[in-house]
Amino acid sequence: MTPVRVLAVASEVYPIVKTGGLADVAGALPLALKAHGVEMRTLMPGYPDVMRMLGGAGEIRRWPDYFGGPGRLLAGSHDGLDLFVLDVPHLYARPGNPYVTAEGVDWPDNGLRFAALSRIAADIGHGLVPAFVPDVVHAHDWQAGLAPAYLHYDNRPRPGTVMTIHNMAYQGKFAPELIGSIGLPWDSFNVHGLEYFGGISFLKAGLQLADRITTVSPTYAQEIQSDEGGMGLGGLLRQRADVLSGILNGIDTDVWNPQTDPHIAYRFGAEDLTFRAANKAVLQQQFNLDSSYEAPLLGVISRLSWQKGLDLLLEAIPTILGDGMQLALLGSGDRDLQDRYQAVARANPGRIGVVIGYDEILAHLIQAGSDALIVPSRFEPCGLTQLYALRYGAVPIVSRVGGLEDTVVDIGEASTSDRAATGFKFAPVTVEALTGTLRKANTAFHNKATWRRLQLSGLATDVSWRNRAGDYAVLYRDLVAARRT
Ligand code: ADP
Ligand code: GLC
Repeated sequence: MTPVRVLAVASEVYPIVKTGGLADVAGALPLALKAHGVEMRTLMPGYPDVMRMLGGAGEIRRWPDYFGGPGRLLAGSHDGLDLFVLDVPHLYARPGNPYVTAEGVDWPDNGLRFAALSRIAADIGHGLVPAFVPDVVHAHDWQAGLAPAYLHYDNRPRPGTVMTIHNMAYQGKFAPELIGSIGLPWDSFNVHGLEYFGGISFLKAGLQLADRITTVSPTYAQEIQSDEGGMGLGGLLRQRADVLSGILNGIDTDVWNPQTDPHIAYRFGAEDLTFRAANKAVLQQQFNLDSSYEAPLLGVISRLSWQKGLDLLLEAIPTILGDGMQLALLGSGDRDLQDRYQAVARANPGRIGVVIGYDEILAHLIQAGSDALIVPSRFEPCGLTQLYALRYGAVPIVSRVGGLEDTVVDIGEASTSDRAATGFKFAPVTVEALTGTLRKANTAFHNKATWRRLQLSGLATDVSWRNRAGDYAVLYRDLVAARRT
C-alpha cells in the first residue's frame, strides 16, 4: 500500500477546540486513517487554547506581515494528532468561541480570518514544508472552502483537493470587496468561481473548485442535491453529482467507551447493562429529577438551533409529563430556546431538568444514564450524539433525516431489514409525529425484553471509524491516481 499524505484543514479539532461534531470528526479521522496507510496532518488556527496546548510546537516559517500583522506557521503534536498551527495573533488570539464574539455575533473579519487559513493550506499544498508535501488537501466546511480556490487560481502543479460538507447551513458568505484583500484574482468573481448571488461564498467556492466533494452521510448527499436541502447550492451539487459522495461519520470508540469512561459514575459493558441504573440515579440527582428507576429518562445533548428541532420537543412536553417520562437536556445556543427550556424546567421540578451550557463531562453521563436519547432534527448531515447513544445503551429516538436515517434502525423496520432494530425514527418532522413516537417508545420501555433487545443491538452496531476511514482512504487514492493520468 503506497502511503498517501493528506493535509486536512479544519477550524476546530477535538480535544483542542470544539463547538460541535466537526471537531470530533477532525480529531478522530486522522488517527483512524493511520491503519489505512494515510498520513494526515491537520492545519488549524492558533486560537488561545491551541497555543496553550501546543506549547512545544516548533516554528517553521515566520512573516512580518501575514494578512495585516505578524504571523507564524508552527508544527507540533497533541494526543496523537500531527498539527500545523497558523499563529496570527491579530486574527486568532481572541478568547471564547472561534467564530463569534462574546455577544454571539460573527467576528466582522471572519472572511479574512479563514481566508488566511486557506491561503496557508494552499501554500503547504505547493510544498512550503518540504518534510510534508501533501498528495491531497482536504478542506472541512466553509472555513476551509477557499483552500481549493487558492490552489486552483494559483495555476501551478497542485495536489488533489477534497471539500467535505459538514453542514450546508453555514456557507461563509461575504461582500465581493473581500476578494481584493485576500490575494485572489478578480476574475475568480464569477459564477464558475466564488460568486454567489452577487456576493462571495467560501463554501460555494470549495464546492465549485474541489476535485471531489463529500458529505457526512449517504442520505444527506442525496438531500443536498434538492433545492430545499441544498440551501441555494442544490443546482451546483446536481451538476457535480459525479464527484459527490456521502461517507458516514464514525466516532472515537476510545473517547466514547462505557467500559473505560472516566466521566461516568459507573462503567459498564453489554454484559452488565444493569449498571446503567446507577448512572441514571446520578444523572437524576444532577438534573434535580425525582429518583425513579421506572420513569423513562429522555436525554438531549445539543446545540440549541433551528436545525435541531428542539422547539418541537418543547411542544411535546405535555406528552412527556402526561406519560410519566422525565427529560434531562444539556444545550446552549439560541437565547429564546434557552429561556423557554429554563422556564419549563422551573415549572416542572423533578420532571424536567435543564442545564444551559457546554459540558463535555456531563454529556458522557447523559449518554450513560438516560434511557433514550432524542434527536428531533429538521436536517442532520450526520449527527454524532445518536452514535454515542448506540454505544452507551441509550436508545435513540430520531427524525428520519440525513445521517439519522442512515445510522438508526427503526423498531418497525427490522422485519424488512437484515439489520436488527436499534431505536425509533419519526417522519415528518412535526410535533404530532414526535409525540406519537415518544408514546411508542414509552410503551416499549415498559416491556423490559423489548428494550433490552434494542439496547443490545445498539451496542453491537459498529459505530467506529474503522471501516468509514477506509472509504476516505479509497477516495484519496482514487483521486491521486486520477490526477496522474
Ligand atoms: P452538530 O455538529 O451539528 O452540533 P453533532 O451531533 O454532529 O451535531 O455533534 C455534536 C457534538 O457536540 C457531540 O460530540 C455532542 O456531544 C457535543 N455537544 C453538543 N452540545 C453540547 C453541550 N451543550 N455540551 C457538551 N457537548 C455538546
Ligand atoms: C455538522 C452537522 C452534524 C455532523 C457534524 C460532523 O456540525 O450538523 O450533523 O455530525 O457536522 O460531521
